[in-house]
Amino acid sequence: MKIIRAKDYNDMSRKAANIISAQIIMKPHCVLGLATGGTPVGTYKQLVEWYNKGDLDLSEVTTVNLDEYRGLPRDHEQSYWHFMHVHFFDLVNIDPSRIHLPEGTDPDAAAACARYDQIIHDLGGIDLQLLGIGIDGHIGFNEPGAAFELGTHCVDLTESTIEANKRFFASREEVPRQAYTMGIKTIMQARKVLLAVSGGSKAEIVKQAFFGPVTPEVPASILQMHPDVTLVGDEEALHLI
Ligand code: PGA
Repeated sequence: MKIIRAKDYNDMSRKAANIISAQIIMKPHCVLGLATGGTPVGTYKQLVEWYNKGDLDLSEVTTVNLDEYRGLPRDHEQSYWHFMHVHFFDLVNIDPSRIHLPEGTDPDAAAACARYDQIIHDLGGIDLQLLGIGIDGHIGFNEPGAAFELGTHCVDLTESTIEANKRFFASREEVPRQAYTMGIKTIMQARKVLLAVSGGSKAEIVKQAFFGPVTPEVPASILQMHPDVTLVGDEEALHLI
């Protein structure tokens, strides 16, 4: 595992964007696994800046996002489809037909998830997967206790995740209770993993995930077994390691 220490959120975002940009330059037709949440917003902003300067071309890139709330239509303000378009896709020259997220409105969870795994398989797998980490150690929506061997599947959100995500909704009641997420197996099959983390509230879980035992109770801890992981974090997030 490589650890890249950044000064602050902006520096972390620039360093994470640098790695993604290098991936795109080295393999213009790469498959990027992308993530939502507060952490990657600055990374996307930096990539958009480089695109606007003419330094980055995403015309051949394909994307697969980690997860999507179950039941939210794509045009819902809090859907991850919407998030990704507002923060990234609408601002760069990515081909809309190469954008993939799990289909949250498909009520047939098994079919929606199997289709998503098939898409990833048909693309030849993920070249670089960007991840955030939850304060409980989740990656994607793989919550503590998640089986390591699952592909894309439907999950019940934990109380801690509902609590963390309610800031984006008008009320706690509106936070969806389920999501479709890539499983740990899907994430582990990515050729490279880039985990971005910022802020003191993540310091303890970063220590547990990367220097504690590998256990389903800390889903991110499985990344210790991945052959090509880069952890990029700011000082506050990395101060315990
Ligand atoms: P955050 O979420 O970036 O909003 O902290 C990370 C996550 O839950 O994976």
